[in-house]
Amino acid sequence: MAFINKSIRVEFTEVDSVSELSSNNQELIEKAKEASSLAYAPYSRFFVGAAARLENGEIHIGSNKENASFPAGICAERNVINYISDLRPNTKINTIAVYADPKDFRLDEPVSPCGICRQVLAETEQVQQQDIEIVLTGHSGKTLIFKSVASILPFHFCLSELRK
Ligand code: THU
Repeated sequence: MAFINKSIRVEFTEVDSVSELSSNNQELIEKAKEASSLAYAPYSRFFVGAAARLENGEIHIGSNKENASFPAGICAERNVINYISDLRPNTKINTIAVYADPKDFRLDEPVSPCGICRQVLAETEQVQQQDIEIVLTGHSGKTLIFKSVASILPFHFCLSELRK
């Protein structure tokens, strides 16, 4: 039996300063930063904000909310995505920006969405049949941009695997 070694490339854009981004993405990052100040994160003190731009131009925000029963906490990304799915069920999401502001140390690298958020975002992308651009940033201004959620969650478990 022959083994075939394969690999997957993850493509993304990296900039050192948000000033190098489009004015739309600069605005979205500003909203994500504002949203991070609304986080309820007394346990981790890791404040995160997410801002999503819809195809109709609206911007909606979410932040992480923790709980004394730790697993009850939810990330900023899922908060905003679930909110939008109820508020604007038929409106596609073009871009999501995520901004992290840890209170106890300096984070120079952009925050990276957790696996559960990637899974939820990937399904949203699949249902709306349009890629969601992901913009990851923080106080240093270093920003990573990915063209789709699927690109940061290859081989993800999806709808079609539950049905024959
Ligand atoms: N968190 C987010 O909200 N988004 C991320 O992308 C990474 C992590 C939250 C979850 C938890 O409240 C805190 O940050 C520490 O993990």
